Amino acid sequence: MKCRVCGETASIALRSHKTAFCDTHFLIFFEKRVQTTIRRYGLIRAGDRPIVAVSGGKDSLSLWALLQRMGIAADGIYVNLGIGDYSRVSLEKIKAVADAIGRKVHIFHVPATFQRDITEVAKVLRRAPCSACGMIKRYVMNKICIEKGYNLLLTGHNLDDEAAALFGNVLYWKKEYLWKKDISLEEDEGHLSRKAKPFFLCSEREVAAYAIISGIDYIYEECPFSKGAKTITYKNILGSIEESSPGTKLMFIKGYLKELEEIKRSSPHEGFRGSNAGTGYCGACGYPSGGGLCGYCRTLEKLEIPYSAEFEEYG
Ligand code: AMP
Ligand code: FES
Ligand code: ZN
Ligand code: ZN
Repeated sequence: MKCRVCGETASIALRSHKTAFCDTHFLIFFEKRVQTTIRRYGLIRAGDRPIVAVSGGKDSLSLWALLQRMGIAADGIYVNLGIGDYSRVSLEKIKAVADAIGRKVHIFHVPATFQRDITEVAKVLRRAPCSACGMIKRYVMNKICIEKGYNLLLTGHNLDDEAAALFGNVLYWKKEYLWKKDISLEEDEGHLSRKAKPFFLCSEREVAAYAIISGIDYIYEECPFSKGAKTITYKNILGSIEESSPGTKLMFIKGYLKELEEIKRSSPHEGFRGSNAGTGYCGACGYPSGGGLCGYCRTLEKLEIPYSAEFEEYG
């Protein structure tokens, strides 16, 4: 197969786009697509001060490096969950990219604040590790934005993540989540920063190819607690549909965004601002909560640890 642009031997075929590229032209194609997504959905606006949530995986590290290449300077935030070698190696990869692009990263260490790793925190809360981890991540990411004046939190969620989540929500008609998976969420002034997912329309395979071709060293392992069995099943099902009908995943997600735009246009009420709008504020720390103490403060209280949320700064 030949590269669509230069006619040299192609290194990657993109069946969903009915095309193929050599390394150089794939990088150009990929960056252009992300740039178009950012512009089309107004993800990054003039005057924004973005921060990237970096996990050490291919998605977030590629996003961080790609933004730098596009001339969008962004610092990073990493939440160290204290999961043995997985967390240690993740941080090493993050620091290497931080050094390479000359940006700093704010690091929140779960074990330093909670005096135990995320699995032990979860046990005390009687929750699954990733449920406790999600709550802590949301809290500290929001806190760093508000405290340090970043008005936009960018994450590396990709097309496959979003399609699997949407598939699950449609399959079980989880109406409470169905319309809350937008490509961006508006800010709740002074309490929650804006959020956006620039890789929303990029498949996992494309992002992995981008990372490898551009020499970004990332951690291959996924967090041992991150993906539920159901998500993996949905990804496999969507993968086989994609195999026989290339482009289906992209159509599914683009159709969702189009539908969401129409709903927002016809009923621009609060409900469709997504999950970013707080319903109440924590009596202890003032950050958003469903009412009473927020999950973060409740956890500290349960563990009889005084409030703290310290960050280490690297770079
Ligand atoms: P996941 O839910 O693990 O697929 O992660 C989705 C996105 O959340 C990643 O692309 C990152 O942007 C962000 N993220 C996940 N884990 C962490 C972490 N420990 N620290 C900072 N950001 C994270
Ligand atoms: Fe949530 Fe690992 S425990 S990503
Ligand atoms: Zn080429
Ligand atoms: Zn609180």
